[in-house]
Amino acid sequence: MDFPIFHLDFIGNRAMIAIIAVLHAVINHALAVGLMPVVTMLEIKGFRLMATQPELAEKWDRLAYRILFFAFIITTTIGAMTGVGIWFSAALINPASIASLIRVFFGAWFVEWGVFVTEVVLMLLYFLTWKKLKSSMAMKFRHVKYGLFLSFFSWITMAIIVSILAFMMDTGNWNTNRSFLYGFTNPLYLPQLAFRTPLAMTMGGMIALFLTLIFTRNDQPFRAVALRSISKWVLVWGPFAAGGAMLYYYMIPQNLTGNLPVAMGTIEFQSWYQQIIVIVAVAIGLVILLANWAYFRPRTTPVWLAGVSILLIAGLMGHFERLREFIRKPYVIGEYMYSNGYRVEDYPLLKRDGVLKHANFVATKEITVDNQLAAGRDVFILTCSRCHTSNGAVNSLASKFTNMFGTKPWESGPLKGYIKNMHSARYFMPPFPGNDEELEALTVFIKSLQDYPQPVPGAQDGLGFQKATPAKPLAYN
Ligand code: HEC
Repeated sequence: MDFPIFHLDFIGNRAMIAIIAVLHAVINHALAVGLMPVVTMLEIKGFRLMATQPELAEKWDRLAYRILFFAFIITTTIGAMTGVGIWFSAALINPASIASLIRVFFGAWFVEWGVFVTEVVLMLLYFLTWKKLKSSMAMKFRHVKYGLFLSFFSWITMAIIVSILAFMMDTGNWNTNRSFLYGFTNPLYLPQLAFRTPLAMTMGGMIALFLTLIFTRNDQPFRAVALRSISKWVLVWGPFAAGGAMLYYYMIPQNLTGNLPVAMGTIEFQSWYQQIIVIVAVAIGLVILLANWAYFRPRTTPVWLAGVSILLIAGLMGHFERLREFIRKPYVIGEYMYSNGYRVEDYPLLKRDGVLKHANFVATKEITVDNQLAAGRDVFILTCSRCHTSNGAVNSLASKFTNMFGTKPWESGPLKGYIKNMHSARYFMPPFPGNDEELEALTVFIKSLQDYPQPVPGAQDGLGFQKATPAKPLAYN
C-alpha cells in the first residue's frame, strides 16, 4: 500500500462515502439531469405564447423561473460540493482504486472536467440572464437555447461518470485487453445509462410537480394546465425508467452474481433483491398514482402525495446505489482489485512477504514477540479497515466476532481458521492477503478488542507517520 491510510473508526469509511455519494446522486439525477429539461420545456411553453397570449406566457415563465431558482440554489451548493466530495472521499479512503481508475479513464475524466465546467457556466448563464433576456422574442429564443444546452451538458456529465461506475462492477474485456475503449464500453455501461437517464427524467418531473403544487396555490386554472403538462412528462418517462431498471437488473445477475460459488453469498444477495423488488413496486405504484391524479384531477392533487413519492423514489435510489456497491464486492474494480485496495495479481507476492513489508505508511515493519499487538493493529488497518471498524458503530469486528464466538475469551485457533477462509465463508470479503505471522498478529489485536476496546486511529490522527524509513516499492518479476 503506497498511501497513508485514512480511517474513521466510529461510523466507518464506507458510511462516509455512502452518505456523500447518495446525496449527490439524488441531487444530480433529480435536480440537474432531470429537472433542467423540464424547466426548459416550461420556458418554451411560455415562449410560444409570447405573441398571442402574453399574460399566460408570463405565468409559464414565472413558474419555470421559480422552479429553476430552487434547483439553482441546491445544485450549485450541496450538489457541486458533494460531486467533488465523492471523488475526494473515495480517493481518501481507497486511493489505490482511484489511482487505477485514473490510469484507465484519464481522458474521460479530463473531458468530464471540461463538460462539468461548461455545465456550471451554462447554469449561471441560464439563471442569471433569465430576467435580462425576456424583453423580445429574439432574446428569449437565445435564452431558451441556454436551457437546451444546459440540459444536454447535464446529461453528458452523468453519461461519462456512469461508464466508470459500471466499469467498477464489471470490467468486461478490459481484463484481457487493457485499453481505454474496452474499459469505457464495459458490459454494464449502456444498461446502467438506459436506467439512469429515464429515472432522472422521472424524478425531475416529480420535483417539478411538487413545486408547481406549491407555487400555483393561488391560481387554480393555471395550476390545472401546468400540472397536466408536467404529469405527461412523468407518464412518458416513467415506463422507460421501469424498463431500464429491468434491463439493468437482468444484466447484473449474469455478470456478477451468476458465478457466485458460495450458497450463503447467494442467499445474502437474494434477500437484497427481494427487498428492492418490494420497494420498487410500491414506488412505481405511487408515481403512477401521482402522475395520473395530477393529469386527470389536477385541482385536487395533494402536495403530500408528491412529497411522499419523491422521498420514496429518493430512498429507492439510495438503496439501489447501495446494492450496486454491495454486489461488486469483494472487488472495488471487478476481478482486478479487491475492496481492500490490493490487486488480485499482487496476492501471491503479499502472501509470501506479508502486507507490512510492502506498506509504506505503517509503524511496524517486522513482527517480533514484543510488537505483535501494534503489528496486528497495522494489519487490521491494511486488510480490514476499508470495510470494518474495530469497535465502532458500523460493522465492527468486535461485534462480528462476538456474534460468532460469543463473549467468552476468543481463542486464536478458530479466529485464525475463520480469517484464513473468510472469502469462502463470505464471498463478499476478499481473501486475507497477509502471511501467517501477520495472521497471528491480527488475532492478537482482535483478541485485545475484547479486553481493551480502544478506537484505532487513522493516518489523519498520526498513525504510521512515526515511521522513519520508507519501504521498498513492490517488486515485480
Ligand atoms: C470488502 C469489504 C470487507 C473487508 C476488506 C473485510 N470484510 Fe469482513 N465483512 C464485510 C461485510 C460487508 C460483512 C457483513 C456485514 C453484515 O453483517 O452485514 C463482513 C462480515 C465479517 C464477519 C462476520 C461474518 C459472519 O458470517 O457473520 C467477520 C468475522 C469479518 N467480517 C471479519 C473480517 C476481518 C477479520 C477482515 C480483515 C482481515 C475483514 N472482515 C475484511 C466486508 C469486509
